[in-house]
Amino acid sequence: MSEPADRRYGPATLPRSRGPLSAAVVEALRRPPYDLPADLGIDLDPADPIVDEDLQLTLFLCYELHYRGWLGVDESWEWQPSLLALRARCERIFEAALRRLVGVPSVPAAGVPAGLAELVAADDGPALAAWLQRRADLAQFREFVAHRSVYHLREADPHSWALPRLGGPAKAALVEIQTDEYGNGRLDRMHAELFRRTLDRLGVDTSYGAHVEVAPAVTLATNNLMSLFGLHRRLRGALLGHLAAFEMTSSLPNRRYGNGLRRLGFDEVATRFFDEHVEADAVHEQIAAHDMCGGLVGVEPALACDVLFGAAAALAVDRLFAAHLLDSWAAGRSSLRAPAPPAPPPTVPLVVLPAVAPPALV
Ligand SMILES: [Fe+2]
Ligand SMILES: [Fe+2]
Repeated sequence: MSEPADRRYGPATLPRSRGPLSAAVVEALRRPPYDLPADLGIDLDPADPIVDEDLQLTLFLCYELHYRGWLGVDESWEWQPSLLALRARCERIFEAALRRLVGVPSVPAAGVPAGLAELVAADDGPALAAWLQRRADLAQFREFVAHRSVYHLREADPHSWALPRLGGPAKAALVEIQTDEYGNGRLDRMHAELFRRTLDRLGVDTSYGAHVEVAPAVTLATNNLMSLFGLHRRLRGALLGHLAAFEMTSSLPNRRYGNGLRRLGFDEVATRFFDEHVEADAVHEQIAAHDMCGGLVGVEPALACDVLFGAAAALAVDRLFAAHLLDSWAAGRSSLRAPAPPAPPPTVPLVVLPAVAPPALV
């Protein structure tokens, strides 16, 4: 199959596997859909599921089938029952780990906006934004945008899955936020396209999914979290809580990212994505907490705890992500995985043998 010339919008190339589970899935996806063995003969018991390379890549491989798919992979895999069953096994492990990580907060519906504000105020994550503003060199900034590109080149898409699952005030508020994220229908204002220009200015590959190969488990986990919440209607409260946490913790870090790029001499084309979020998310923050999440639990009060769970999970996994980058850089190493080695040159046979017809199948 020949590759399309325009790789901006996907699909991405299948990444290399990172263990027996992802190896089995990558291998399967290269073939037409078929029934996978019930458990693939693999005992799934990762010590730390959120940073387990094999588990997170497997989830990402499965989830991507619902976004842009994978290059050369049969689109029917998206709803192949045995692959969905495997994904469900992985999701149970991932969700249980998330609930262990953040606990399950208890809050009445009326307390949701205040509960979100408390979670955000108590967020004491590592100072990644401050590092990028004041200290990071260009290589570290390039790594940062490569990590973030996995999400930002499809920015807002996972939260759009909430739209058909909602009615009333929460839906109206979500549409208001998403409209901005999608540039009010203007391609050149779509946040994903603004981020593409930032990547381009920094000399980083702008193709959709280009950096999945080198994104470590914790980066994939920040994305898998949104897909988990987005693809399960039962987790719609968590999905909105996740978006609220994003919006409520966006304005100040984005100001810092933009200032960091200006310190390194970049122009407004490079900083536009970050500058845009300083203004937009100061507004989105209020819409998300009060109109969207408050509106949701006003109609469905039983979802109050889920909203806070989603927000807490977003903040906690993002803290792990930030700590990974800062720890890697403090140790003098890259925060990305090693890229795939270049394909070996084709071997040239010393003696050209005459072609032999394959034996007939009987
Ligand atoms: Fe955005
Ligand atoms: Fe926003």
